[in-house]
Amino acid sequence: MHLYSQKLVRFGLGLIVGVAILLPAQGEEAKYSIKEVMKALNKGDDAVGKKVAKGLASPEEIAKVVEYYQSLPLTKPTQGDPANWKSKTDKLLLASKNLKAAKPGALDAFKEAVNCKACHQEFKPEEKK
Ligand code: HEC
Repeated sequence: MHLYSQKLVRFGLGLIVGVAILLPAQGEEAKYSIKEVMKALNKGDDAVGKKVAKGLASPEEIAKVVEYYQSLPLTKPTQGDPANWKSKTDKLLLASKNLKAAKPGALDAFKEAVNCKACHQEFKPEEKK
């Protein structure tokens, strides 16, 4: 092998290892608790999350939704199936990101993912309903 390509291979491997080390460390902790996310986005009739679902939100408001929903997949609900929680919250985050990127169909996907009742039924503690 040429010295040059050896260097390239080493560089490539170094890069892969570097990324592998960095990735899991990145944002492992949720910045906001589920409760904080709900309060920030979904509480009250004029809640940001509701504006977003109606397609009436400004880019700043959509950015706020992405910022908060980013935490949800990193949290653990006190009840319900953790795998289902992960899949629901991943979908919600993806839909929010697509909305921010103005992807076609993003609003419909967001409305489906943000189904309050479907999520609360499984994951919101009874005494808080
Ligand atoms: C992906 C799941 C999920 C979705 C979607 C969701 N919620 Fe929640 N919500 C929760 C969980 C879990 C809690 C309980 C959090 C806790 O108290 O620890 C909660 C709590 C709340 C609370 C109580 C917050 C407080 O002050 O204690 C409100 C209000 C709320 N949700 C409103 C909404 C509304 C409105 C929607 C729909 C627009 C919605 N949520 C969608 C999971 C969800």
